[in-house]
Amino acid sequence: MNQKNDSSNPIDMTLAAEILRNNDRGGYTIPTDGLYPFQWSWDSALVALGWMRIDESRAWEEAETMFRGQWANGMVPHILFHKGAESYFPGPDVWGNTKGIPSSAISQPPVWATAIRLLYEQCTDRELADAKLRLLLPKLIAYHEWWYRERDPENTGLVCSYHPWESGMDNSPAWDAPLAAVPEVSWSYQRRDLGHVDSDQRPHKPEYDRYLYLVDLYKRYGFDSQKIYANCPYKVADIGIIAILHRASKDLIDLCRIASHSDGVEALQTELDQTASAINSLWSEDKRCFMSRDLITGKTLDEVTTATVLPLFGGLTSDAQSEAILSLIGEWLDDTSFGLSSTHPSSPRFEPKRYWRGPVWPHINWIIALSALEHGHPEIAARLRRCTMACVQSSGFWEYFDADTGAGCGGDNFSWTAAITLYWLGDST
Ligand code: DGY
Repeated sequence: MNQKNDSSNPIDMTLAAEILRNNDRGGYTIPTDGLYPFQWSWDSALVALGWMRIDESRAWEEAETMFRGQWANGMVPHILFHKGAESYFPGPDVWGNTKGIPSSAISQPPVWATAIRLLYEQCTDRELADAKLRLLLPKLIAYHEWWYRERDPENTGLVCSYHPWESGMDNSPAWDAPLAAVPEVSWSYQRRDLGHVDSDQRPHKPEYDRYLYLVDLYKRYGFDSQKIYANCPYKVADIGIIAILHRASKDLIDLCRIASHSDGVEALQTELDQTASAINSLWSEDKRCFMSRDLITGKTLDEVTTATVLPLFGGLTSDAQSEAILSLIGEWLDDTSFGLSSTHPSSPRFEPKRYWRGPVWPHINWIIALSALEHGHPEIAARLRRCTMACVQSSGFWEYFDADTGAGCGGDNFSWTAAITLYWLGDST
């Protein structure tokens, strides 16, 4: 089934809702059939926003199901393998975690507290919203504590990522150098993604060989955070995760205040202060944005990607930095037709349709539009919304879009594209 919009018509919101319903597997929403047949964390948080527009209790259920897979140490895994499926690799047997709901052993950009704040603010059933908030708050706090405790054990103020998949921006050129230092797995395997999507839209084999080495390593160390911190050959202070975590922690503190919940708030505030005082070590005056850092070599990861402007979303920028980033974004939009390409088009490593090396991602455009609006640039927000919706209108609800042509790429009938469309078009911003 290929569900497309006719470009002469307005976006079909009924179709967007139908995609969420078709991808609903009972309490959780798969990103797309075949390619991604399980529950992914940051997909799910964004998808909950779409559900909020059509079914409030279903939106909360999405969050509850995700947090049912939370580890005892507080981590929310990036994939929950609720049911078996042969169409995806690497599955639960490769990850090797058998406690509770089978899952991966890494997390993903911690967008949950921000999403739950939006759900809470927009839910019309106030009794439902209060009850769900009370239920989810301690879980969210445990999740944020996990990030600061396990991923910044030296209290630098900058949490680190152990895997490119954890960034959600898997094969971004920013990770090329740190990933190249990771050994390749010695065993052979069969990728399943290439059975669903053209290989020119997906990561290369050498990247997969290293992704899998890391997956093996966590298992070898028995998922012990300290051992992994000491031995993981990939450790990156990822500016996307740092910024998203920062905003989410602020949202979480606000939610705690609303619910008169004081446990954990002071510690979260201390973490926020620490990040705010460390963040300028990642600022590049020359690039007009913040760069990630390889924590193994200490080197700056010198690639302008959509992650590098996210401190705007995190509320981590000075006025001068905000203006510099917004001018970068404005010029970047002049060079692209469909919103911000995931890698800046001037980069020699920009590839317009290869996953995170160039294509346009609707949820990232939404996040950056929101940031532009919050920083007094409604014209940038409007531009981002217009060009994102133009992609959806002319190509359909794809996972991502070719940055040069706006053609749909990756998986079709994609949940987060449908959800962001429902959410964004249902909003006045
Ligand atoms: C994949 O398998 O492509 C995913 O992005 C991993 O999370």
